[in-house]
Amino acid sequence: MKKHFAVFLLALMPSFSFAAAGVTALDSVEIDLTDKAAMQDGLRTFVNYCQGCHGAQYQRYERVAKDLGIPEDIMLKNTVFTGAKIGDHMQSAMQPREAKVWFGAAPPDLTLVARVRGTDWLYSYLRSFYDDPHRPYGVNNSVFPNVGMPHALISLQGRRAIGCKQVPLVEQGRKQYDPLTGVPLTREECGVMAVVPGTGSLSESEYDELVKNLVTFLAYSANPVKLESQRIGTYVLLFLVVFFVFAYLLKREYWKDVH
Ligand code: HEC
Repeated sequence: MKKHFAVFLLALMPSFSFAAAGVTALDSVEIDLTDKAAMQDGLRTFVNYCQGCHGAQYQRYERVAKDLGIPEDIMLKNTVFTGAKIGDHMQSAMQPREAKVWFGAAPPDLTLVARVRGTDWLYSYLRSFYDDPHRPYGVNNSVFPNVGMPHALISLQGRRAIGCKQVPLVEQGRKQYDPLTGVPLTREECGVMAVVPGTGSLSESEYDELVKNLVTFLAYSANPVKLESQRIGTYVLLFLVVFFVFAYLLKREYWKDVH
């Protein structure tokens, strides 16, 4: 009987672990793949803060410059620090074998990561590092527990730890505003995850915007032809509409004498 119970528990294991993994709800983000300024900003963040470890090796500098509307000389000057040429793939300078020793896991290529993980996951992941002295780099991540990656954007976001933060004041389900100035009222909430004041150079909303732009760039990178496909699709539909009119007129012409 005991043995059966153990087997029963074992059978349940996968669902337990699934439940544990699902604890952190993801924040959703609206990505606009027509927003070139956002993608340029994301590209800047990517080359400055991520490419030291991660590559985007299925993507060429030249193609990115063209798609994002960046002149080639500006692209070379601002995004290439390794002596790569404009036609080269956006590789990382780091050797995967060394990286595996340093971080316990090799940093994966990020060209297609937005397709694999989804944009909500990326947006949440990059905002979910927090102080954890038990981890080798002093940080952990609530979306990717025990991740091997250090918090690459910590100088911008700041350190996050359990503490106090200002949250919107809500009464009877409605946000409260100062009747004179219209400024939203807040109250202090403690025992929650919050940025330690003075540790990051960006405000919370500025940081969210930066991450959103970075995720927009990664979403573009995972599917560079998406915009093009949509544009061509529109023309195809327009053509079909016009063609239908002529086909109909022709049909009328042919059948005129039959009736
Ligand atoms: C110091 C090196 C380093 C830097 C800088 C870095 N990463 Fe990482 N990253 C890693 C390592 C190592 C992993 C693998 C972690 C693991 O599997 O435990 C990783 C994993 C990831 C993952 C998870 C991929 C997956 O699907 O498992 C994403 C997404 C990611 N990094 C995005 C970024 C972004 C975006 C930046 C720039 C803001 C960045 N990383 C900067 C080292 C780095």
